[in-house]
Amino acid sequence: MTLQIKSIDEYHTEYARSVADPEGFWAEQAATFRWHKPWRQVLKWNFREPNVQWFVGGRLNITENCLDRHLETRPNQVAILWEPNDPKRKPRKITYKQLYGQVCQFANALKAQGVKKGDRVCIYMPMTPELAVAVLACARIGAIHSVVFAGFSAVSLADRIKDAQCKVVLTSDGNSRGPKNIPVKQVVDEAIALGCDSVEHVIVHQNTGDPVAMHSDRDIWWHEAIKGKRKSCKATIVDSEDMLFILYTSGSTGKPKGVVHTHGGYMVYTEYTFRNVFQYQPGEVYWCTADIGWVTGHSYIVYGPLLAGATSVMFEGIPTYPDPGRFWDVIQRHKVNIFYTAPTAIRALMAAGDTWVKGRRMPSLRVLGTVGEPINEEAWHWYNERIGKKRCPIVDTWWQTETGGILITPIAGITPLKPCYATLPLPGVQPCLVDANGNEIEGNDVEGMLCLKFPWPAILRTTYGDHERCRQTYFAAFKDKYFTGDGARRDADGMYRIIGRVDDVINVSGHRIGTAEVEDAINKTPRVVESAVVGYPHDIKGQGIYAYVIADGPVADEAAFKKSVLDTVTREIGPIAKPDKIQVVPGLPKTRSGKIMRRILRKIAEGDTSNLGDTTTLLNPEVVEEIKAGAV
Ligand code: PRX
Repeated sequence: MTLQIKSIDEYHTEYARSVADPEGFWAEQAATFRWHKPWRQVLKWNFREPNVQWFVGGRLNITENCLDRHLETRPNQVAILWEPNDPKRKPRKITYKQLYGQVCQFANALKAQGVKKGDRVCIYMPMTPELAVAVLACARIGAIHSVVFAGFSAVSLADRIKDAQCKVVLTSDGNSRGPKNIPVKQVVDEAIALGCDSVEHVIVHQNTGDPVAMHSDRDIWWHEAIKGKRKSCKATIVDSEDMLFILYTSGSTGKPKGVVHTHGGYMVYTEYTFRNVFQYQPGEVYWCTADIGWVTGHSYIVYGPLLAGATSVMFEGIPTYPDPGRFWDVIQRHKVNIFYTAPTAIRALMAAGDTWVKGRRMPSLRVLGTVGEPINEEAWHWYNERIGKKRCPIVDTWWQTETGGILITPIAGITPLKPCYATLPLPGVQPCLVDANGNEIEGNDVEGMLCLKFPWPAILRTTYGDHERCRQTYFAAFKDKYFTGDGARRDADGMYRIIGRVDDVINVSGHRIGTAEVEDAINKTPRVVESAVVGYPHDIKGQGIYAYVIADGPVADEAAFKKSVLDTVTREIGPIAKPDKIQVVPGLPKTRSGKIMRRILRKIAEGDTSNLGDTTTLLNPEVVEEIKAGAV
């Protein structure tokens, strides 16, 4: 049995031990899994190159730990409980034994399509159980999955397929989300037409039944691909440090980068954190509302819960369809014990009014969680009072795509809570705050940039195909530290509150968006000369996107011009990156060296123009007044 922390005293003891003897601590956790060959060394690391390796020399397959080992103890327990978009359709319950069979069968189908260990497989699928099957089937045969959220545009999808040189793409005929049906196969076709020469095959799952064009030499239906394939498939045994998956995420500069996670450390860490943070008890129903297209879905819908032998709910739809009572309906019907969602969803449902919650009986709820962005105090209290009835601890879990799993969080029912605080680091996690000069800020009641000074098993290993970029982005800012990009405060009790990004990344509805990426997209719009994008506070989304755009001359029809900007962003990235506000400006405030003064633009976007600081040193101070006057 993996350790489950049972009291705050035990937390402190475990934490102290994890710092004094990290290798002993993690070796004990890792020993509870099925390994084909034990590791020679628990940890090898330096943050200089960086080079981090966990359970060095160990050999395993993560899916044996997600599936095979549960066949003896819980074959008929539901592993995935699927709630469809349309509440009138029947949910699907897939037991561990059935999931094992489906994963093996699809793994055999992938092999028949020529997929081998180390090959990259792009998965662009809606939230159906087959998405989870696809992920696990790749891992089963040692192929590297790269899941792309099925809301990204063809251009974004093509960028990701090319960067990872994916051999196969897995998709569906269509994606039902709320009242919409999104033709995902068509997006895949468009993406491949943009020069994805590495793609040999596309496997298409029949989901909505919508007609799709099939390319006879390239495309094959999922049901045809699995026909006659065996429901058992020997797992390919891989090295602990072999790549498990690539997941693209946005940063301050350039195109999204492929964050790489490996088998051994990721497995040990996601299981440990899942079991401890939520205090999962056997038989409980757990629901994380994320999409598997993001890291939360990877770690806490698929891997963490399945490794721990949990029943994990997977939801195809959106919180407001057919009405804003949908989440509460699902919790009631499936008797959900642990519910994990994003602050943006909580704020949207809170804004819809209490009528959707009133009359609901949700006595099954035991633990509530949030992830993805800072939660504001009002939303925290609403969640606590209206949903948790003040008897369910809220775990405000802070982590990132790069961290693989939760790092700073309360442990449900054990850590004292403080609204809006992620509270304390989990065992094995050594955070610190750093000032602008790179000096560590000691003591409490302080604020700084959040770093980690020691590796945990699920830390990213590299960015795919560009290790130097990984070093530059995360390990170069502060010597011997991993820099998160977040600012944080440590209060008088040593508890952490995440303030938000300190770089040019904005967090819109819990989605991470690089301002540079949006600017690049906007600049592709006809007549656009230059643009600058900043975040501003948004009641529901947390942050909204504010775009300042310069055109090549007077714009007669501003509405049409703005629409063309929005269309371009949708085409280049996807609807999630569409600016909420666009202001056509005559120029952008720049320093004498030509750098855009984002600080000023942020203030204007926030509607706070009282103190813009000294603007006299700007190259073009007059433009500030014009921007202020035209703010939207
Ligand atoms: O700014 C932090 C914010 O989300 C960023 C990571 O985004 P992503 O890689 O997409 O992963 C999101 C899901 C893990 C962080 O740098 N963030 C995440 N969780 C929290 C948070 N901000 C405040 N509180 C949180 N609990």
